[in-house]
Amino acid sequence: MRRLRLLTGGESHGPGLTVILEGLPAGLDLDSLQLDSWLHRRQHGFGRGGRQRIEKDSAEVTGGLRGGKTLGSPVVMQIENRDWKNWAEFMDPWEVDPERAADRRVSVPRPGHADLSGGIGTDQLDDYRNVLERASARETAARVAAGAVCSQLLARFGISFRSAVLQVGPNIVHDGPPDWDLLESVDTSSPLVTPKPDDEAELVEAVRRTRSDGDTLGGVVGAVVRGLPPGLGSYTHWDRKLDGRICQALVSIHSVKGATIGASTEVAACPGSEAHDAIALAEGGVVRPTNRAGGLEGGVTNGEDLVVRAYFKPISTLRKGMSSVNLETGEETVTQWERSDVTAIGAAPVIVEAMLALILTDALLEKFGGDAISDLDTAWWSYCKRLEGIWTPQV
Ligand SMILES: Cc1cc2nc3c(=O)[nH]c(=O)nc-3n(C[C@H](O)[C@H](O)[C@H](O)COP(=O)(O)O)c2cc1C
Repeated sequence: MRRLRLLTGGESHGPGLTVILEGLPAGLDLDSLQLDSWLHRRQHGFGRGGRQRIEKDSAEVTGGLRGGKTLGSPVVMQIENRDWKNWAEFMDPWEVDPERAADRRVSVPRPGHADLSGGIGTDQLDDYRNVLERASARETAARVAAGAVCSQLLARFGISFRSAVLQVGPNIVHDGPPDWDLLESVDTSSPLVTPKPDDEAELVEAVRRTRSDGDTLGGVVGAVVRGLPPGLGSYTHWDRKLDGRICQALVSIHSVKGATIGASTEVAACPGSEAHDAIALAEGGVVRPTNRAGGLEGGVTNGEDLVVRAYFKPISTLRKGMSSVNLETGEETVTQWERSDVTAIGAAPVIVEAMLALILTDALLEKFGGDAISDLDTAWWSYCKRLEGIWTPQV
């Protein structure tokens, strides 16, 4: 990120997570209820493990805010791990009794998780817990808290988000890129957060079957962002192109193995005349009758809805185990099982939104700058004025 910086710290079963978000202008109003409602969405979804019954995530702000307004200093938040009380003797930062710790030792790396690759890299092959505690997707709670803050800055300029699960394992709910109309009325409290809640009973059954088979599922999430002005990002250099920055952020989410923008996989098979979006004039500005590009051309927003999909692999901890090795004994064996999600796909939409909010806030601040929200407002409205006849903001 160029203008914004996000640092997160903390282990899955440690005392908690710390979030440091630096680069926001002073004077931005924040709403704590919105923050907690995003965190609540991340805990949601049919197929989650027992952990979600223990946690009740809430972000305690410990810096950067006064009277609900940002101060321009880093926004610092703490998210408590309620489960810590069950893990204190195994995860204490200073003292862990090696004999007791053996009860929670992970000696067989799980294929698909960071255990083996991370353990080799950091020389922690005697207990993979030293790796998995940080590699765990518990960290996404910190990202969601930061994203929830950023989404409030974007909302000020009429930029809003919608997202949903489009596929659960092999079960496709919606094929192809989503659009705003499909996602507009998604019920974020439905069991699997799809655009078709009436069809979810079948999906819930598929997750149940997978659970009783001791297996896991992944899926696909789609998201749409409306209200972005044309001109965010840059076509001038590889690491400034907004499409690349968005895909990096999405693929950095735990389990995400691919991210696409617009009708990416579909247009690869089309002739150009069916792949690109014609440019036309209408009242209010330049319009595109189609949005196959998904809101980005040349690494720059074009004023259309930003449309993305993120592809999640199945959860790596399988109740029925997978073949692996114990490097200490030199034996081939089967992985251990520890409380885990069967699928986390119902939690994924808000995580995707959070990563988009971070990158888009960064791009917005990069273009309009300002240490004070009033400066940002001025720059935004001056740009909107220049774009009269081309593009109209949503505020
Ligand atoms: C919201 C969420 C929850 C997850 N929960 C689990 C879990 O309970 N057990 C597990 O083994 N993996 C879980 N994962 C997946 C692992 O975090 C992921 O496989 C691991 O970090 C390696 O991911 P990578 O290959 O993308 O680096 C979860 C992922 C997400 C996004």
